[in-house]
Amino acid sequence: MATPSSFSITTPIFYVNDVPHIGHAYTQVAADVLARWHRQSGDDTWFLTGTDEHGQKILRTATANGVTPKEWADQLVKSAWLPLLETIDISNDDFIRTTEPRHEENVQKFLQKLYDDGHVYDGEFEALYCVGCEEFKPKSEIVDGTGAFEGEKVCIIHSKPLELLQEKNYFFRMSAFQDRLLALYEERPDFVQPPSARNEVIAFVQQGLDDLSISRSSFDWGIPIPWDSSHVTYVWFDALLNYITAAGYGSDEAKFDERWPATHVVGKDILRFHAVIWPAMLMAAGIEVPKQVFAHGWLLVGGEKMSKSKLTGIAPNEITDVFGSDAFRYYFSRAVSFGHDGSFSWEDLASRYQAELANGFGNLASRVLAMNVKYFDGVVPAAAEETEADAAIRELVARAAVAADEQMERLAVHEALASIWEIVDALNGYITDQEPWVLAKSEETRARLGTVLATATEGLRALAVLLSPVLTEATQKLWVALGADVALGELRAQNLREAGAWGLLPAGTKLGQLDALFPRIETAE
Ligand code: MSP
Repeated sequence: MATPSSFSITTPIFYVNDVPHIGHAYTQVAADVLARWHRQSGDDTWFLTGTDEHGQKILRTATANGVTPKEWADQLVKSAWLPLLETIDISNDDFIRTTEPRHEENVQKFLQKLYDDGHVYDGEFEALYCVGCEEFKPKSEIVDGTGAFEGEKVCIIHSKPLELLQEKNYFFRMSAFQDRLLALYEERPDFVQPPSARNEVIAFVQQGLDDLSISRSSFDWGIPIPWDSSHVTYVWFDALLNYITAAGYGSDEAKFDERWPATHVVGKDILRFHAVIWPAMLMAAGIEVPKQVFAHGWLLVGGEKMSKSKLTGIAPNEITDVFGSDAFRYYFSRAVSFGHDGSFSWEDLASRYQAELANGFGNLASRVLAMNVKYFDGVVPAAAEETEADAAIRELVARAAVAADEQMERLAVHEALASIWEIVDALNGYITDQEPWVLAKSEETRARLGTVLATATEGLRALAVLLSPVLTEATQKLWVALGADVALGELRAQNLREAGAWGLLPAGTKLGQLDALFPRIETAE
């Protein structure tokens, strides 16, 4: 069992039929911020992401492009999915591809165990399948087509016709787990979050669970069923197992004990797979269920779920090329309340960049450093007697750090950022009120000037640490400019749970040069 100070977190593994858009990058940034927060808080952290490479969707795309599915997947992983991790600065500890032997072999072990233990049977099957979802659709998600698809049944999510499949399949006796699943949601209210997601899952399971078709025989791009090689494993059954095959299931039990169970961050469209099918599979195999399944909302563009098939897809580098990866990470962590849908717009992104990052945080850092250079030769001054205004900053830093930690602990990333941002706003107000440029005019107020700049500089020290899981580049630059790398060691080594302490950056620390953290963006008129 993972120890209380260990933290494992995963993203869904991404389909490689196409290149990433900002919806995918959003999931990754959220999980990355949480992973970095825990890692830098001293928790033994493991962060997994990867790619989902089997199934009909990939097979069809590859065939249409005249290559084998493996060639297609290799190409997309190399040219698009791995580079995305660099583009948005993801700190994953592992990247699993479902075509790797470490995955395929252990999926087969898992299946064989379920088969041997009587959880699998074979039967005839006829149902409507959506290749976009890679799922036999429940009645509630089948609607009548309109326009070009008039008279056909279409998928409510993809608005594309469903395909009637008639095959001999192997089935997982999922229906047998209905009561145990309901008991799980009851006993562990945090298991599925946020509450809206939990309610949806409970209502779905209460309606009654069908058994799950777990094999396909009409194509062969998948993991062969170990006892019947004329079938391949259903792609979702294969994909969900990535979370444990990467953690060491079947190959490294000691590692598996450390890494499992994990927290899963998923989009709400794939909640049911993670909160119903996946725990039922694990229960059948006698493996602990996940620690938590957290469903985030959709990024909406023009009021609709952003998607490439609906031509609203935006590539992450369209944003990072202009605003940088920090702004990308900040915007999606701050502007979207985690667990709810959020609308993306270029105007909102640009205005938050200017107001919050450039004018709010960036300017604060440049002004404080510049005043230290101007009035104290680029050395952190000593603080003299503390006034109420200074104490208010010190207390706010301590409070905000504790609040942010508690908020990150319950995956409220946007709330944690808002808490930390109170420090940015308070420090800007403090500088305006204290008017160091006036204090600098007289020798008599020199001690007070030192206290004001020491307070503001120490505030920046705390901000650099607290914001480092989100603004990975800017905080590093600030850290070096504060001379903190020499005085206190590497930024990554600063414990976040101690970031709210006061007086850490010693007087006398030599400050360096700081270029604008968030330069002005020239927009084409
Ligand atoms: N391969 C499956 C997941 C298997 S996990 C065992 C899959 N892949 S996906 O590439 O289609 O989607 C991956 C993630 O991206 C999902 O969490 C999905 O919700 C998320 N997003 C895709 N479009 C999105 C938005 N427009 N907004 C937010 N997240 C979105 O599903």
